[in-house]
Amino acid sequence: MRRVSPPLPQWKPGVAIDSPVSDMIALDASTLDVRETYKLMTSGVIPRPIAFVSTLNENGTVNLAPFSYFNAVASAPPTIMLAVTYKSDGSKKDTLINIERSREFVVNSVSEWMAEPMNHCSADYPNGVSELEKVGLCPIPSDVVSPPRVKESPFHMECKLHTTVAVGGGGAGSSTIVIGEVVKFHIHKPAYHNGVIIPEELKPLCRLGGTSYGILGDLFDLDRPKL
Ligand SMILES: Cc1cc2nc3c(=O)[nH]c(=O)nc-3n(C[C@H](O)[C@H](O)[C@H](O)COP(=O)(O)O)c2cc1C
Repeated sequence: MRRVSPPLPQWKPGVAIDSPVSDMIALDASTLDVRETYKLMTSGVIPRPIAFVSTLNENGTVNLAPFSYFNAVASAPPTIMLAVTYKSDGSKKDTLINIERSREFVVNSVSEWMAEPMNHCSADYPNGVSELEKVGLCPIPSDVVSPPRVKESPFHMECKLHTTVAVGGGGAGSSTIVIGEVVKFHIHKPAYHNGVIIPEELKPLCRLGGTSYGILGDLFDLDRPKL
């Protein structure tokens, strides 16, 4: 990872920019099937951060699964969202079942060094099986909520369920948006500087389309415009 200059340091408002974009393809969403739509959405809306979500199964084991339909949505109160899609047979994923029952979960960030075990946790293990144990990641206790945190992750958010929002009719491709309030943050000390988390230490894994991932390369800063 390196710090570089912005792409157009001399740019001023009103100055035309060079762009490679010319011919466009227009697709009416109503003509696409679920698979085609999924492929477009997940390859076009990139890069996405990955929430590695720990919850407790009913039998007390730790469920751990990655979700890249994920983002921060508010700071007061600190709020995040993730979207859990239905399985192809129309059933709910364990993460959603556990969050609806216990109203508690932890979002662990995913760094470059966690890619393979994170990916393995997306396997469809039966309910009650701990993906965390299967992949050999270490649980550490949370302060407020019951599900543990993942020791190998540099940033954890302990969350309480705010609300869920259904999107679609519950079949393939539809999802439940889980909105969670963060009640406690945990940050790997070297990554915390003057109140912010520095990307060079977080080394976030970026979700792209298909089976692709990215890691951050060139970083630059742009001051907010002052009118
Ligand atoms: C990087 C990555 C991102 C994923 N993002 C999502 C997502 O946003 N929503 C979703 O429902 N499933 C997503 N999945 C698939 C789930 O992780 C997978 O269905 C998992 O088995 C769910 O586990 P659970 O049944 O224990 O909740 C993703 C998988 C990977 C590898």
